[in-house]
Amino acid sequence: MNDPLRPRAFSGIQPTGTIHLGNYLGACRNWVTMQDTTDGIYCIVDLHALSVPREPGEIRQATLEAAKDLIAIGIDPERSTLFVQSRIREHSELAWHLQCVTAFGELRRMTQFKDKSESNDFVSAALFTYPALQAADIVLYDTDVVPVGDDQRQHLELTRDIANRFNSRFGEVLVVPEHRIPAAGARIMDLQNPTNKMSKSADAVNGTVMLTDTAAEITKKLKRAVTDNDGEVRFDPENKPGVSNLLTLLAVATGEAPETVAERYEQYGPLKADAAEAIISLIEPIQARRAELDDGTVDAMLKMGEDKAREVATTVMDRVRQAVDLH
Ligand code: TYM
Repeated sequence: MNDPLRPRAFSGIQPTGTIHLGNYLGACRNWVTMQDTTDGIYCIVDLHALSVPREPGEIRQATLEAAKDLIAIGIDPERSTLFVQSRIREHSELAWHLQCVTAFGELRRMTQFKDKSESNDFVSAALFTYPALQAADIVLYDTDVVPVGDDQRQHLELTRDIANRFNSRFGEVLVVPEHRIPAAGARIMDLQNPTNKMSKSADAVNGTVMLTDTAAEITKKLKRAVTDNDGEVRFDPENKPGVSNLLTLLAVATGEAPETVAERYEQYGPLKADAAEAIISLIEPIQARRAELDDGTVDAMLKMGEDKAREVATTVMDRVRQAVDLH
């Protein structure tokens, strides 16, 4: 932990139900492989999840489930730092300082805010300032690289702008991070509505593969996946979003390029069946590991992560307080 010779990687996931295939292929899977080359810090961002209304008790359970998912996919709490955002108070404190150097207009341009504010009845101020808290999460750990899916690109660009602005006002205080977005799998689409990204929303049940789905459920969801009528297997995300998504899923699961995978198929049926099979063999070992995790062990692992995270966070926050003259 805290190996100064390795780049620091940081990323986060909201505790809103179990992880889906989009989270896994677009981001979390890379967190696992990056454990070999980086000093990884991975955070369950419960404060972010509170930016839309939640039932009392929902977040605590969802946080535990997310932690189990992450450990089951291979995040090793000994090698990496795995912790819960709200346990480290410095996230909220630093978010305030970053909001003070973030322009209203910058936040207003965030497409995720526009999307989420249209689909929620109650639009909180926190939903609007959400990207400043995300920037705080990242720079609080002197982060070099942030492995995320494509939908976080704009938030990461804003994080860089905020960090640069802070530094130009207060001196070289913050490390300016870079995103790491994978070449394949960065945008997994909904199986029923392949022009939308796969997501956790309740109305997307048949379009979303959860890491907890059974083999039968996965087979059924893939079989029903929306394609098109021209009957040609070709990787062309713009004109053939459904088929291209299936090719991407199979390609990412087998480590090939989607164009290469496309050459092997002439019909949609076998492509769907093979994609389902590849996903099942990816997910089954994860489910087996998950079944062995008990709540007490996972809580202890999160506590260990919290202690490791606090060491870094308090040091960086002290530096920020000095810089803004509040020490
Ligand atoms: P969240 O919880 O929505 O998603 C977690 C990660 O999964 C990726 N992802 C996808 N990748 C490919 N295809 C998809 N359909 C798909 N859906 C989700 C996301 O890009 C993300 O990497 N704001 C963040 C959480 C956050 C964070 C951070 C991330 C808070 N602080 C600091 C990085 C660094 C979010 O809501 O992710």
